[in-house]
Amino acid sequence: MANVIKVTHEEDFHKVAAHIVASLVQTSPRAVLGLATGGTPVGLYRELIQIHKQGLVSFAKVKSYNLDEYAGLPTDHPASYRTFMNEHLFNHIDINLENTHVPDGQATDLDAECRLYDEMLSEAVIDLQVLGIGHNGHIGFNEPDDSLNPATHVVTLLEQTREANSRYFDSIDEVPAQAITMGVGSIMKARQILLLVRGADKAEIIHRAVTGPITTQCPASLLQLHSNVTVLLDAEAGRLF
Ligand code: GLP
Repeated sequence: MANVIKVTHEEDFHKVAAHIVASLVQTSPRAVLGLATGGTPVGLYRELIQIHKQGLVSFAKVKSYNLDEYAGLPTDHPASYRTFMNEHLFNHIDINLENTHVPDGQATDLDAECRLYDEMLSEAVIDLQVLGIGHNGHIGFNEPDDSLNPATHVVTLLEQTREANSRYFDSIDEVPAQAITMGVGSIMKARQILLLVRGADKAEIIHRAVTGPITTQCPASLLQLHSNVTVLLDAEAGRLF
């Protein structure tokens, strides 16, 4: 059963999340972080930058692995997840960019890139995996399906996912049809998972993921099988708990 924390005051949400991540890095300076993109973790990253600027935490020895990346998008495209991570976190802290990993969505052989990413992951144990959740229960880009791939793989994005993410592009037609994502197996291998959920539009899916049946049709529900999951909810996302 996940440890569910409901934060009453919106402004505390990001502070609580940042406290969890920063405490780990303070006690384990060589921590390996699994990082996520999307609107939800932006405040967490903003708080971590603040904590770092106050001299309270250093990321100099931290390694990071991101969950996913769009396929076919230039790495320096404004909507690529590499750009997102550089702009929202990496460029503002003392992490060594060489220790940050985001799948290469521009690779000519995407399947080979997936295997390479898995090889890197097999040499690292993720101490803390930060996750968000899609409206359909996806984690990373692991979309609901009859079966789920445990390893890093290429996915075809569902229309609703492309639509939800079209806000980062000029139009939905520009949202790539495919992406590379870490598999659910790799996510489940993390020692600790921090699932961040905000907003009324996520209330039903997070309730289903935490309390409903464990099913590949709601990939986040598989997290019920993990022994160290913290679900951080704001008041709106937590209204059914
Ligand atoms: C994308 C990302 C996910 C993220 C999800 C929700 O699909 N691949 O990792 O969790 O969006 O994003 P948001 O936090 O913006 O709702």
